[in-house]
Formats: sequence, C-alpha cells, structure tokens
Amino acid sequence: MLQSYPMTPLSLKEFEKFRDLIYQHTSLFFTEKKKAFLESKLWQRMEVLDLFSYEAYYQLLKEEKASSKELSALIETLVIPETSFFRIRGHFLELERSIFPKLLTQRSQESWSLPLPQKSQIRIWSVACSTGEEPYSIAMSLLEVLGDPALWNIEILATDISNSALAKAQRGIYSKDKVKKVESRYVDKYFKDLGGKEYQIADEVRQWIRFQYLNLKDLDKFHSASYDLIFCRNVLIYFDRKAQDLLMERVTNLLLPGGYLFLGDAEPLHTFPQIARQFEFIEIEDAMIYRKK
Ligand SMILES: C[S@@+](CC[C@H](N)C(=O)[O-])C[C@H]1O[C@@H](n2cnc3c(N)ncnc32)[C@H](O)[C@@H]1O
Repeated sequence: MLQSYPMTPLSLKEFEKFRDLIYQHTSLFFTEKKKAFLESKLWQRMEVLDLFSYEAYYQLLKEEKASSKELSALIETLVIPETSFFRIRGHFLELERSIFPKLLTQRSQESWSLPLPQKSQIRIWSVACSTGEEPYSIAMSLLEVLGDPALWNIEILATDISNSALAKAQRGIYSKDKVKKVESRYVDKYFKDLGGKEYQIADEVRQWIRFQYLNLKDLDKFHSASYDLIFCRNVLIYFDRKAQDLLMERVTNLLLPGGYLFLGDAEPLHTFPQIARQFEFIEIEDAMIYRKK
C-alpha cells in the first residue's frame, strides 16, 4: 500500500456487479443490506493493490478469474469464520449419549460378521469447518466413547473455502480465550497447555482429521464416498435459496441411510420439505438432529 485515499462510495450498480461475481464463484449472496460491508472489504483489497477505481478492480477480478488469486484474497475477507468448540451443545450431548454408542455397536457387529474381521470404519464430514473447532469437538466426543482407537478406522474430513482458516485449523493452536468455555474434562485430556496463553490440540484428536480446501459451489465436482455423519452448520445462511437447495440436495445425497445430519440453529430442515421427507427429526434439549431414513 503506497498511499491511503478516502473511500469512494460504491454505487448500487457497482455493488450488483461485484455481488453477482462473488455469487457466481462461491454461492455467497450479499443482500443490499450488506452493501456497506462489501464496500469496505473491496476498498481494503484495493488499498493493498494501490488501485482506487471499483471498475478497475472489477476488471482485474474478471480477468484473473482463471487463476483466481485476487478473488481468493477477496473471499478470505468476506467469509465469516465465527465458530467455537462444542457449538450447539445438544449436538455433542446426543452424540456421546446415543448416536456414537449405537453407531459403534452397529459397526463392530457388521465387521465381526465378515469372513475376515477387519477394522470398523466411521466416516464424518465437517462441511464448512472454519478454524477447526467443529471437527476437533467431534473427534473429542468420539474419543469419549470409543474404547480402543486401534480397533477403528476413523476418517473426519474437514473442508472450507478459506485457506487461512484451514491453516489455523491445521495448526490446532487456540488462545486461552477460545478454550475457557470448554468443559475441563475435555481440556484436561485433549488440550496441551503451551504456557498459559495458548493450547494445542492433542495428537490423538488430530490423527483422524484431514483438512481440505473445498468451495461448496463446486460440490458437483467433489467425488467422495458416503458419510455416517455430516455437519453442515452455519454456512447455508450465507447462500441464497437456490444455492441452499442445491447444497442441501448434494450434501444429503452423500449421507448413508441411517446417517445423521447436523445443521445450524437458523437452518432447520423443515424449510427444505422435499429433503425433510427423507429424514426423521430428533429433538433434543436445545437442538435438532436429523436421521436419514
Ligand atoms: C460461520 S462459519 C461456520 C463454522 C462451523 N461450521 C460452525 O458452525 O461453527 C462459516 C464457514 O463457511 C465457510 N464458507 C462460506 N462459503 C463457503 C463456500 N462457498 N464453500 C466452502 N466454505 C464456505 C466460511 O469460510 C466459514 O468458515
């Protein structure tokens, strides 16, 4: 950044051009209420590039789209990475109380009925994992009920569009502030104190998790086996209805029959009636979980 200029207001027409470009690339949809937010984020990137015309910046994004370097940098500033350990407590209570114990029993029975018994497999997907608190919480809840990890083949895929969030997730180091609300039974076992200010996730929690870049806009190109559990929480809210429908259809197609779907509080499944028909609703204290029939 060479020089700072006062921010030029973004016209409605310019806003719509950027909004459409971002939507086309990510499914993230900015309503007009978010115009000031988008304007400030665009300007932030333009200052870095020393470029002070929205039109010139728009052209750069359009031209660069193939390599999408600047588009990725802009998107990093637009996504909301808000998350926390054991977010929506009821989901994790139910996992430990009922879902994991049942799934573990079922899987070990299946594997022992094979001619040559093998390690039982469980596959879980955290669809928009942000900085990693969600997949790490899932792994901790699983460890609480698993017994001997050596008998299991566990895979937790954790994906996100934000490379900086994924890098933080991969590091697995969190501030004291982030960890202070976590119950001590987890902290004592699964967090390593790095001198009072930071904590590192223990290796036994990290071992199963694979962090990977995935733009949900490109989910049709994502070839994957099916999952026992899918966490698609607090990401649908940033998409428009059309993109939400498409995402829900694709995500639920990747869930095994009898598998469980976890959504954010503001993303109830009954708002997708076609898909809701394929699920049983499990109501627990402060949350809802959906089981594929
Ligand atoms: C609010 S966080 C939710 C994190 C976590 N699932 C939770 O509930 O705590 C939303 C995440 O969605 C990701 N995201 C937004 N658009 C995306 C897209 N098109 N593809 C993949 N991830 C996306 C963001 O980068 C962000 O990390």
